[in-house]
Amino acid sequence: MLDIAKVRAQFPILKREVNGKPLVYFDNAATSQKPQVVIDAIVDYYSNYNANIHRGVHALSQEATDVYEAARENVRAFFNIPLAKQTLFTSGNTHSINAVASGAHVFVKEGDEVIVSAVEHHSNIVPWQMLCERVGAHLKVIPVLDNGTLDMDAYQQLLNDKTAFVVVNHVSNALGVTNPVAEIIKRAHAVNALVLIDGAQSCGHMKVDVQALDADFYTMSGHKMCGPTGIGILYGKEHLLNELPPYQGGGEMIDQVSFEKTTYAGLPHKFEAGTPNICGGIALGAAVDYLNEVGMDNIAAYEHELLVYGTEQLKKIDGITIYGDVPDKAAVISFNVSSIHPYDIGTIVDKLGIAVRTGHHCAQPVMTRFNIPGTVRASFAFYNTKEEIDVMVQAMQRAVMMLS
Ligand code: ALA
Repeated sequence: MLDIAKVRAQFPILKREVNGKPLVYFDNAATSQKPQVVIDAIVDYYSNYNANIHRGVHALSQEATDVYEAARENVRAFFNIPLAKQTLFTSGNTHSINAVASGAHVFVKEGDEVIVSAVEHHSNIVPWQMLCERVGAHLKVIPVLDNGTLDMDAYQQLLNDKTAFVVVNHVSNALGVTNPVAEIIKRAHAVNALVLIDGAQSCGHMKVDVQALDADFYTMSGHKMCGPTGIGILYGKEHLLNELPPYQGGGEMIDQVSFEKTTYAGLPHKFEAGTPNICGGIALGAAVDYLNEVGMDNIAAYEHELLVYGTEQLKKIDGITIYGDVPDKAAVISFNVSSIHPYDIGTIVDKLGIAVRTGHHCAQPVMTRFNIPGTVRASFAFYNTKEEIDVMVQAMQRAVMMLS
């Protein structure tokens, strides 16, 4: 069980006011807040052992390298990744996806098909469109049903011996719906297709075990799981990462360089050209320690409680439509009220100290599917409370009255 008062005390930002009101932060799907231990890890690195890693014989460089690699090990264990060398540090989830898509011509050939879902974030659509254009492959789309879940019958129909890659998010950032990724992976593997799962919205909210899922690639974002921005993770099966060409050339990713031929370093360095975000990696390691201490099962159970309560309370607003109102979802509620523009609601509740996201959430095809310009999205984290939800619902009611 979570001691919410204790948890909240660990997040300094939750003490502040916005527009003269206590902050109610419900934009956790955009970025999570940071506990003091993560902020301390950043300050400690720059105050006490800032140095470049993997390069120096001097003590500071070795100390920084040790802490950075220990953080990689933390992250590895957190997602049950088999080996540290399959736990690649990137600059974020978008970088992780692009690192795979940019080299995926080794897996996807002319005439092949790449399947994406209709609920993807732009970052899991555009890199695959670019790949298809480059190699002459075809992009196919799993449609979404009216309730926000994927049409699994249509998915089955799309799979065939030309399917080379399937890419789907674990949790939709726009609707919050959890996709049946284990089943999606199983069916893709039955036609020998590879699968990349975009875990930007699952990581930090549920236990993720990349081996149990049998994902070929899994991507994560550090800043959505209590870590800082500018750090992400790419997991891949070892033989696939060995086959995948490097995303960037530069220092650290090489074995030998000459003007005639360059050979590349082994994993993970092949994908980590240049000076990495050392501090970000270290702080992500601290975030993982923190999440382990709070307990991922506790986090998932409590966030689900907030989801159920928030959905019930919001449904009391006349004219509300919730998109993706299904049992299997993360603590994200995406909605509109009558024909009021989401931006107008977001602006009024902001004046009352409430942070929600409004707009298309970088998922325009989802909005087109539901024939709406965007939604208001309230996304909860384990440091939120039911009392905050009550404050939000009252503010929403006030906004709706003003705008109707
Ligand atoms: N992808 C992030 C969101 O859904 C930024 O808000």
